[in-house]
Amino acid sequence: MSAFRPRKGDIMNSTLVVVGASYAGVQLAASARELGFDGRIVLLGDEPDAPYQRPPLSKGFLTGSFAEQRLPLRSQAFFDEEKIEWMPSTRATHIDRERREIELHDGSRIAYHHVALTTGARVRKLDCPGATLSAVHYLRDLRDARRLAQTTRTARRAVVIGGGYIGLEAAASLRQQGLEVTVVETEPRLLARVASPWLSGFMLRAHTEHGVAFEFGRKVVALHDADGTVSVELDDGVRLVCELVVVGIGVVPNTELAADCGLNVAGGVVVDACARTSDPSIVAAGDCASFVPHWAPPGARAGRIESVQNANDMAKTAAATVVGRSEPYRALPWFWSDQYDLKLQMAGVNAGFTDYAMRGSVEDKRFSLFYFRDDKLIAVDSINRPQDHMFARKLLSNGARVSAEAVRDPAFDLKALASGDAHAPRGVAQ
Ligand code: NAI
Repeated sequence: MSAFRPRKGDIMNSTLVVVGASYAGVQLAASARELGFDGRIVLLGDEPDAPYQRPPLSKGFLTGSFAEQRLPLRSQAFFDEEKIEWMPSTRATHIDRERREIELHDGSRIAYHHVALTTGARVRKLDCPGATLSAVHYLRDLRDARRLAQTTRTARRAVVIGGGYIGLEAAASLRQQGLEVTVVETEPRLLARVASPWLSGFMLRAHTEHGVAFEFGRKVVALHDADGTVSVELDDGVRLVCELVVVGIGVVPNTELAADCGLNVAGGVVVDACARTSDPSIVAAGDCASFVPHWAPPGARAGRIESVQNANDMAKTAAATVVGRSEPYRALPWFWSDQYDLKLQMAGVNAGFTDYAMRGSVEDKRFSLFYFRDDKLIAVDSINRPQDHMFARKLLSNGARVSAEAVRDPAFDLKALASGDAHAPRGVAQ
């Protein structure tokens, strides 16, 4: 981002309060400074720990290969240098929009000119008898991960409830530590929210090869405490006995603060393309924000995107809005997940795809799936093909035209097309 210096009096001496100190909040505070916000920046976090990376929590942190000291997103020196007042263990309880004050859990108040809501999401809780047994774990924050990492040293068998990102990454990490693992999923396939049926099938085979067992289309009806073990009762009467239960059944956005002060909330804090809420002095970004993405098909409803990329990029848009340089959010969504020796990288969103084409070798576990909707490339999933993923991000960002037939041809030069080579390679749709 190019440096922006505001006119004196514009935003000098004003206060930006950022509520939520994870990816979106930290990035928003940093970007506001970078863009020339000279006023006070207060970053409120309700956790005691310095803002930290979350992706390692279900992977290396669990297996012990990623040390806790490596987790912080930014050093204290960074916050000091940028004069970002990070306040740990501090919860905002109310936004008084009339007086332009934020009330904190201890009753104190901070006067603001701008508020950024980066409150994220929290885990959806299991709701059945026995759901609060001490052997039941969630995996969202550092406290959860520390507690779970302790338990995996002594447990022998684990039941993972939910076959989404958290469930599968946890299953892989637990298998790598030698636990027996069974995954219970209500849908008939894995990663149903984000993956194509083909990719779901591939991930299922990979986990099965690593010895994970699966129960599809099943609900957990109760958890029973049984002499130091837990018996997980499914709706078909099956009982799975284990010492450890990990629940990853999705998240719910933290929208209470926004709803309570009368902002427009519908499945998330509703924002426009520039991350503005229904109050022009309040922006929102990240997991908690709901918007209609630029790449959505006509008539698409607003929704949230749960990813590190979205938190970071949307925070930059929101920061630009705060300093009066609003520009519509246009970043390409991308995601990744590491499970065993598989690096899954997803660029774009494949919802509503009508055709797909593959490059590479499934046998070698190195391939990419290109998804098309009405002949337009909309998303690419790559397994152990990081170069394809980088090219795909360029192709999708540039709206490059390519046919499924061309993609299937191993001789087709993806790199040339991604780099915008003037001599379009053979097979490019005109
Ligand atoms: P998710 O939405 O990805 O997956 C939840 C899964 O649980 C779905 O497959 C759903 O069908 C299943 N489910 C729902 N209720 C159930 C029930 N009662 N019993 C059994 N299965 C049930 O959410 P997940 O995995 O909990 O992840 C939480 C958040 O963390 C998401 O925002 C996700 O995007 C993010 N995350 C992202 C990662 C990545 O991008 N690599 C890694 C880990 C988490």
